[in-house]
Amino acid sequence: MNQAPQPAGGLTEPVVLARDLTRVYEIRRGMLRKPDLLQAVGGVSFTLHAGRTLAVVGESGCGKSTLARMVSLIEPPTGGELRLQGSSISEVPAARRRDLRRVVQMVFQNPYGSLNPRKRIGDILEAPLHINTDLAAGEREERARAMLARVGLRPEHYSRYPHMFSGGQRQRIASARALMMEPALVVADEPVSALDVSIQAQVLNLLTDLQQQLGLAYLFISHDLGVVRHIAHDVLVMYLGHAVEQGPKKAIFQQPLHPYTQALLGSTPGIAAPGDAARQRIVLKGELPSPLNPPGGCVFSTRCPHAVERCRIERPVLRELSDRQVACHLAERFMMN
Ligand SMILES: Nc1ncnc2c1ncn2[C@@H]1O[C@H](COP(=O)(O)OP(=O)(O)OP(=O)(O)O)[C@@H](O)[C@H]1O
Ligand SMILES: [Mg+2]
Repeated sequence: MNQAPQPAGGLTEPVVLARDLTRVYEIRRGMLRKPDLLQAVGGVSFTLHAGRTLAVVGESGCGKSTLARMVSLIEPPTGGELRLQGSSISEVPAARRRDLRRVVQMVFQNPYGSLNPRKRIGDILEAPLHINTDLAAGEREERARAMLARVGLRPEHYSRYPHMFSGGQRQRIASARALMMEPALVVADEPVSALDVSIQAQVLNLLTDLQQQLGLAYLFISHDLGVVRHIAHDVLVMYLGHAVEQGPKKAIFQQPLHPYTQALLGSTPGIAAPGDAARQRIVLKGELPSPLNPPGGCVFSTRCPHAVERCRIERPVLRELSDRQVACHLAERFMMN
């Protein structure tokens, strides 16, 4: 299995380095009209190291899955730079690009949709080895069986079909399949959102164990801050395609400095941080603006209870404040001493 890269002079190469990643879609409405431009992701930057989990959170439509697809090399960015294991994906030769496709694997919300109902679990797990390696049949089976055990499934599951499993078991199978090619990075897009809460915890614990055993980096997409609190080391909060606050989970959960993060945390039941009494409860007003026609100034200004004139005119950039980065002109106001 992949080992975490050895520190060289105390520094390790991040598994992912994203700089100003951007994805713009052209929306066509007829032959003669110029296409409208929709910026699904507008300049997101982060680094992700082996053994770490970066959670991306935000409301529906904020660009989480688009970011996930870019990092998984499913679709190219229209701007910015993406490096996987130090290689810039727009510059690498084709052969290294194929390698990088194996370095990153995805797990989706609904594994049933991605598990071929006519194939036995053993065949599903062995398919990537069949395509990408010249291992003998016996060796492939051995690896598939070892992986079943690793994700907490039983030997007899090897010859069963996907419909014979529960939702939680299917998510274990999907995780097992993602790990067959020994990736360094797993991009998981809402992997537990479709599961009952009790099953969610089991799958999250499995993901955490696998991370520790294999040194995996996770880009973990979720709209559920309760889930994020369990699994993340770092958090990136997105709103309308932009990162509004990002940094260590602890800093952000204890003292969110962006009003949007405050609103998300305030609306998540069961999350009570030490600073809660002092934290204002923000109820978001209004609808999410159309990404085809985003607000000028701060993208959150139309729904922010604190917005002042400056917020409607000048877009705040991400800046360092109190152990994280935040894009809000007024963030100092929300700091507690
Ligand atoms: N292929 C596409 N063509 C045009 N627009 C797209 C495409 N994919 C996504 N979008 C738009 O980009 C924006 C971001 O979508 P995305 O699916 O990344 O959001 P999300 O945060 O994953 O939402 P959800 O929580 O609902 O999954 C949305 O406005 C969406 O309509
Ligand atoms: Mg999505």
